[in-house]
Amino acid sequence: MTTNICITFKQNKYPAIYLSKYDNLSEHLTVQNSPVLFGCRTGICGTCLVSIKGDIPPPSEEEKEILEIFAPGNHQARLACQVELTNDIEISPLTEEV
Ligand code: FES
Repeated sequence: MTTNICITFKQNKYPAIYLSKYDNLSEHLTVQNSPVLFGCRTGICGTCLVSIKGDIPPPSEEEKEILEIFAPGNHQARLACQVELTNDIEISPLTEEV
């Protein structure tokens, strides 16, 4: 049986999305249903940089290296395309901050 994971967005003009555990965010989030943009989808370009609140596994060494470049010192920053979906999360894109 699959577990439903609730993805919410800090900007509440986007309704919550329910995905299965370990679904890949980059396959389910689109311009229509989320504020998150994707580029390479392989953890290199930093386009999908977001801030995430929620209990999910820490970034891999590769993801950490990219986060050091794009969001140094921000411990909530993650690459949405690399996130392992294990619990409910709240996403706010870092690239949209003004
Ligand atoms: S889409 Fe390029 S790092 Fe996630």
